[in-house]
Amino acid sequence: MALRKFTLFPYCQLNAVSCLLNRQLPKGVRCVSTVLVPGEPSGPCVKTTIPGPKSLQMIADLDKIQFAGSIFYFTDIKNSLGNYIVDADGNSILDLLTQISSLPLGYNHPDLLKVLQDPDNHIAFINRPALAIFPTQGWPEKLTSSLLSVAPKGHTQVTTMACGACSNENAFKSTFMWYRNKQRGGAPITDEEHSSCLVNKGPGSTPFTIMSFKGSFHGQTLACLTTTHSRSVFKLDFPALDWPIASFPRYKYPLEDHIKENEAEDRRCLAEVEEQFEIYNKAGKFVAGVVVEPIQAEGGDVHASPEFFRELQRITKKNGAALILDEVQTGGGATGKYWCHEHFNLPDPVDIVTFSKKMLTGGFYSLPEFRPQQGLKIFNTWMGDPTKVLLLEKVLQVVKRDNLLKMVELSGKKLMDGLKDLSRRFPQHMQNVRGIGTFCAFDSGSQQKRDETFFRLQQHGIQPGPCGEQTIRLRPSLVFQPKHADIFLDILEKVLKEIQTP
Ligand SMILES: Cc1ncc(COP(=O)(O)O)c(C=O)c1O
Repeated sequence: MALRKFTLFPYCQLNAVSCLLNRQLPKGVRCVSTVLVPGEPSGPCVKTTIPGPKSLQMIADLDKIQFAGSIFYFTDIKNSLGNYIVDADGNSILDLLTQISSLPLGYNHPDLLKVLQDPDNHIAFINRPALAIFPTQGWPEKLTSSLLSVAPKGHTQVTTMACGACSNENAFKSTFMWYRNKQRGGAPITDEEHSSCLVNKGPGSTPFTIMSFKGSFHGQTLACLTTTHSRSVFKLDFPALDWPIASFPRYKYPLEDHIKENEAEDRRCLAEVEEQFEIYNKAGKFVAGVVVEPIQAEGGDVHASPEFFRELQRITKKNGAALILDEVQTGGGATGKYWCHEHFNLPDPVDIVTFSKKMLTGGFYSLPEFRPQQGLKIFNTWMGDPTKVLLLEKVLQVVKRDNLLKMVELSGKKLMDGLKDLSRRFPQHMQNVRGIGTFCAFDSGSQQKRDETFFRLQQHGIQPGPCGEQTIRLRPSLVFQPKHADIFLDILEKVLKEIQTP
């Protein structure tokens, strides 16, 4: 990509936070909320190209040991704070990607540092237990005060895991066990089932399937990859299972001008879901579950309507299958609610909800009927990590204390208003603005235009995220405030002007 010359903006010289912003905050958001992370820089400060010379050297060093082709730059994590990531060359960058959407409170939040300083917590950091065999005393209380305190409607069961993919993988296994137990109807498991599964044959190994959607991303272990359809780079050369795939809605924007077309798009996709159930069930490859992201994230921030999800739940139930909502990226507060599906007003609790990223620990919530009937079925050595749950407990306290879900709403509104305004003024470079809370995105018109916008934003001290073919996604942490949105929108406008004026 040939890039034209650009100048760096003097954000380094911006003054400290203006108290004027407080006047924009409604009652209920703490007055101190303009300083959520004390000591945070007042704006980005860029001294070198990004990646700078030190990062480039480190990338070369690492590449001698392992493939380093996906690295943006090396970080100086110690000096990063709040919404600002500092790179190895000393550039301070406003981070709207936050370690692929996985930092709830930004960098080095003082309350999280206190968790590490508490001597009562030290033993948890040096003695990692095998939780399914030797949980530390107090573990049920910790789960209750953290994960279960924000459980989706109807969920009393939670299982911890290490990452997003293994959460989904084990959600699929829970679904298959539940489906098989329904089929058995209480009959005992036969010797043939026990022996045949050892050599990957039926009846012990089942022909069950999980339905997924075009464009989805559910992780990169083998079963998750079978349900992933966002980019070929993830899938090429790997074996995949013959599981059903349906279309996910692709709406026309602005939504308010395309109501009829988008309703028809919902109907088209839901008809495919029905059809896939019929084809696979008839062939004996019973569809035990449907896995879906509330917003397809890696696939390009593709949204579907609440009506689509309500109807999907009805069809899934009608076919005796489980609905698995993959909230690995959408969960944890970025949409202004802990769970994005809470925006959909679903008539029934979802069967399984998987999480990771902003929740700090992986895992899944499930309805009681999805409990395994034996030990070792949903099992691995660590089954998550109690230190992550300690940190999560504190995160949830801070979110409540600082009213951060309200802050997400405010910052999200500011972002969406600003993005819509820019897309009206720069329609060749910004289209299809969409978002809930701060979980926002826009398209650039082509991959080449997206890459140029992305690169230029980086050079001006903004770290956005790319996704899909031509999309820029925003994934700030929950301490992202309207003042940060202002800085981002200001720089985005300047970047768009640069691109427009050769
Ligand atoms: C929706 C979704 N599901 C699953 C995953 C996989 O999570 P992990 O990378 O922790 O395995 C991701 C990761 O980006 C994701 O966005």
